[in-house]
Amino acid sequence: MATSITTIEAFFDSATSTVSYVIVDAATGCAAIVDPVLDFELKSGRTGTTQADRLLAFVRSHCLQVQWILETHAHADHLSAARYLQEQVGGRIAIGERIREVQATFKKLYNLERNFLPDGAQFDHLFHDGEVFQIGSLQARALLVPGHTPADMAYLVDDAVFVGDTLFMPDVGSARADFPGGDAHALYASVRRLLALPPATRMFVCHDYPPADRTAAWQTTVAEQRARNIHVRDGIDEATFVAMRHARDATLDVPTLILPSIQVNIRAGQLPPAEDDGVSYLKIPLNVLGSKQA
Ligand SMILES: [Fe+2]
Repeated sequence: MATSITTIEAFFDSATSTVSYVIVDAATGCAAIVDPVLDFELKSGRTGTTQADRLLAFVRSHCLQVQWILETHAHADHLSAARYLQEQVGGRIAIGERIREVQATFKKLYNLERNFLPDGAQFDHLFHDGEVFQIGSLQARALLVPGHTPADMAYLVDDAVFVGDTLFMPDVGSARADFPGGDAHALYASVRRLLALPPATRMFVCHDYPPADRTAAWQTTVAEQRARNIHVRDGIDEATFVAMRHARDATLDVPTLILPSIQVNIRAGQLPPAEDDGVSYLKIPLNVLGSKQA
């Protein structure tokens, strides 16, 4: 365990209920950004950087050296600001190596251009399970936690773990497992892996969808999840969890931004190549996602 003091700054995006983080190694001023959001207005097709600029202002005001821009997975609810932030402050954009499987699935779904190769090369680094890396003097570890998607990673930094969309706050539960390549059995195993971390481990989630009686929150602990998580606290076995997940996922709508998001996020936050008029276009495959009409 590293001995440096870790500062974690959270940035909640109310438009997508996403929490982005800046992890700071106070000893060196080195930092990692986790899951940054690029604003996107579906109605106009316009992107924006208001949310990302909040992170930038923090980074600049503290004179931080960004070493990493970490994605937990290819998000289906927001576009990634990784590329924009890299252009501003540098850092290596990284994700789990199984992103290649997600890229292959969605290259086919979108019928992407031939030049788009599902080899992960759009990212600067692909983590394998258990890989150790440094944020300044902090030691960090990438953990493969598939289930929500095949490529989900969690990042363990000092006594904090960034769990992406595996677990939500204890009163909200867990993420859906019905996207292409998702698997509720795998998600259960991933959650149990995270809950086997020391009980005092601080846990930071990627989204919050708070019930009416509280405001948005994003920090909990392994102990709290084991005691109180409504989907997967201690004592809930795999069969019960999987049955709950299947039943619940069958009721969930396709996320509003899934089609715009994933085609950008599998490019590491790069917009699709501009066409001959200089404009970048998103593709919307018709009658591919969602349930068929009877
Ligand atoms: Fe997600």
